[in-house]
Amino acid sequence: VDFGRGGAWMGRARVCVLGSANMDLVVFADRAPASGETVAGRRFVTIPGGKGANQAIAAARAGGEVSMVGAVGADPYGDEIRAVLAGAGVGVEGVARVEATTGTAHILVEDSGDNSIVVVSGANGTVHDPVAGLDAALEGAEFLLLQLELPMDAVVAGARAAQAHGVKVVLTPAPASPLPPDLLDNVDLLVPNEHEAGILTGKDAPEAAASALLDVVPEVVVTLGARGARWLRRDGGGDHLPAPRVEVRDTTAAGDTFVGALAVALGEGRPMPAALRWAGAAAALSVQREGASTSMPTRDEIDRFDR
Ligand code: ADP
Ligand code: NA
Repeated sequence: VDFGRGGAWMGRARVCVLGSANMDLVVFADRAPASGETVAGRRFVTIPGGKGANQAIAAARAGGEVSMVGAVGADPYGDEIRAVLAGAGVGVEGVARVEATTGTAHILVEDSGDNSIVVVSGANGTVHDPVAGLDAALEGAEFLLLQLELPMDAVVAGARAAQAHGVKVVLTPAPASPLPPDLLDNVDLLVPNEHEAGILTGKDAPEAAASALLDVVPEVVVTLGARGARWLRRDGGGDHLPAPRVEVRDTTAAGDTFVGALAVALGEGRPMPAALRWAGAAAALSVQREGASTSMPTRDEIDRFDR
């Protein structure tokens, strides 16, 4: 049932994502080559990724009305990424095709499970303030999801524009780096994992890190992997949400799945504890499957799991 914009129920959550899109180029080998050495690889796969694209796909699969803003190259990887986003139901009008190679992440997975990664930001690195297509995408949105894989001036501009449109800003501070005050001023909810929370605050204990982060943002959710998530609000309140116990196969993009689903639940008007529980169900489903975008659950799957 959708009563429309003016009705009692807002219907689908409207989520905008300003962020990165990469093609992950993944090779599996016994071990990494030393400098100057060649080793034989066993398998090679290409998987659309990047935190922005991952969060957009997660939110769309969770039932959100999602649009993405960013950039890919005018090349086959860029075309494939746009097609995969569109196939998941993500609006890609704001994903520009630019004169640069599509961002790539070159990932070597060793038999030991260790991996090494080289990221070439490519087209992502061309996204700057003023960000083309951003205002149009923010029109009517409830949440803007930001991460730190685009140039910082674009992230800052995104948060500022969102506030001007009355859109709530959710920042995933990954990869962890110092957060400028003009960004923090416009962040409503910060969602670091415990590693990022530690780097940002210099405090190892998640509880202490979350408290410290309340000095700079009004609300924090620190994700704790298999231990769930710690939610804390400046004006009092908060909770620890345990994660469901599941068989883990691949935790890639668990955090992105969590954030995408969380924004959808909040955008539908669910209170934070219920939204966190539903996001935890989505992420728990994703860790039971291989891959990033390929492992993100649909709304029905999340609802069935979260009974
Ligand atoms: P990231 O993927 O960014 O490193 P986390 O590892 O903290 O972030 O995972 C994000 C969320 O995914 C957690 O808060 C939790 O809800 C869920 N999650 C991650 N690992 C597991 C797991 N082993 N079992 C169940 N849920 C998990
Ligand atoms: Na997964």
